[in-house]
Amino acid sequence: MPGIVIVGAQWGDEGKGKVTDLLAERADAVVRFQGGNNAGHTIVRNSQTWKLHLIPSGILHAGTLCVIGNGVVVDPKVLTDELDELRRRRVDIESLRISANAHLIMPYHLMLDHAGEAKLGKLQIGTTRRGIGPCYADKAARLGIRVQDLLDEKILKKKIVAALEPKRLSLRPFAKDPRLDLQTMTEEYLTYGHVLERHIQDTTRLVHEQLDSGQLVLFEGAQGALLDIDHGTYPFVTSSNPVAGAACVGAGVGPKDIDEVWGVAKAYATRVGAGPFPTELDGQMADDLRQKGGEYGTTTGRARRVGWIDLVALRYTARINSLTALALTKLDVLSGQDRVRVCTRYRGAEGAEFYDFPYHQTVLHHAVGDYEELPGWSEDVTECREESDLPAAAREYLQYIAEFVGVPISLVSVGAGRDQVVWTQASVGMVGGAAQAPAGAQ
Ligand code: GDP
Ligand code: IMO
Ligand code: MG
Repeated sequence: MPGIVIVGAQWGDEGKGKVTDLLAERADAVVRFQGGNNAGHTIVRNSQTWKLHLIPSGILHAGTLCVIGNGVVVDPKVLTDELDELRRRRVDIESLRISANAHLIMPYHLMLDHAGEAKLGKLQIGTTRRGIGPCYADKAARLGIRVQDLLDEKILKKKIVAALEPKRLSLRPFAKDPRLDLQTMTEEYLTYGHVLERHIQDTTRLVHEQLDSGQLVLFEGAQGALLDIDHGTYPFVTSSNPVAGAACVGAGVGPKDIDEVWGVAKAYATRVGAGPFPTELDGQMADDLRQKGGEYGTTTGRARRVGWIDLVALRYTARINSLTALALTKLDVLSGQDRVRVCTRYRGAEGAEFYDFPYHQTVLHHAVGDYEELPGWSEDVTECREESDLPAAAREYLQYIAEFVGVPISLVSVGAGRDQVVWTQASVGMVGGAAQAPAGAQ
């Protein structure tokens, strides 16, 4: 003990990388528990930018144990490239451990992801095309290939043959692709095995050892709760569970090992890919917000859709994650608005009103946000470090959100840099809270 889970409370890209890096200051271990390299977590330190896809956002803290848990799907090519890049930039990667039970993204998963999207045409999900869905599908079908299989040529080959068998028809368009040749694929993956071998471990046991000896363990989520395959805007979701409960499954710990759950949310909302987005903006306002917030995907470079903060959705994700704290990011991007809007209910077909997040796909697709307007602020907030530095209207905005959602805001991010943060009074006394009580805190 203790364990802290950090999750995305919207549609991903909320700033989980930055928040994890901040909380990792005092953590002994950081564990990724789901998703794969569909994630792109950005950390900005001393004007240097780090983009991590698979490696936990604790890696920049020398000596912090970094774990890729069993719930993650690992593309070993992406992982070895990411390790090379970190090494090149002189980051110590010796503390990385990879679960022997994590599933591997294979070349055919990438092909199937591409083909699946092409087949859907106009109805496509807008996946990152990183093979995530097909890999989790094979895991569920018990045809998956795991990290431990990289270390045994015979088993690896046998499993590839078994996994390819039911896919023959869908892979027919790729029949001549050299990446599908059994020998080539086996050799390529055995090479990854050699490179990664010294990092492969029983990570569940490792995390238990950390918790049992009183170390602080962070569980770093990828994506966001509204992309959850069970609780999100299905079918426009990812193929894993980005909610806090998945930290238990994807790292091998129990619910009692979790002490705090931090939900990361932007001061507005964004979404990449298709699917319902009740508070979406278009036109000049959307362009301005996208430009100011740099809302282009870390992984795919796609322009993110943008909108006002959706408190109906946020209250829902607070509940399904049992959030104990909110980390609100990108407050700086809202500076300069005369009025800021918060969505407090949805309006559906024929004037129906919804105060709770609708479970029904058709309702959700027709839902549009209904808003309260609050005063905006013109001041630049990027230099604010204490709550009292923030303009009164910004503080009012934060208070409105915390009260509506019913979760205290413990941290406000006012820029991409690591120092651009306001720890609030609410964080005092929390395990993941301010290292020192902010000025004025009791
Ligand atoms: P993640 O996937 O949740 O880790 O988020 P991403 O890294 O994909 O996207 C968040 C982006 O916002 C990154 O480029 C961050 O550097 C940046 N960022 C994080 N916090 C802030 C903030 O408070 N203000 C601004 N302007 N940018 C931020
Ligand atoms: P981070 O961790 C934002 C979205 C994709 C698509 C849907 C399914 O950086 O917040 P997938 O490739 O997972 O099958 O795509 O999920 N998506 C993300 N959106 N941030 C992410 O990760 C995402 N990972 C997947 O755009 O709509
Ligand atoms: Mg991201």
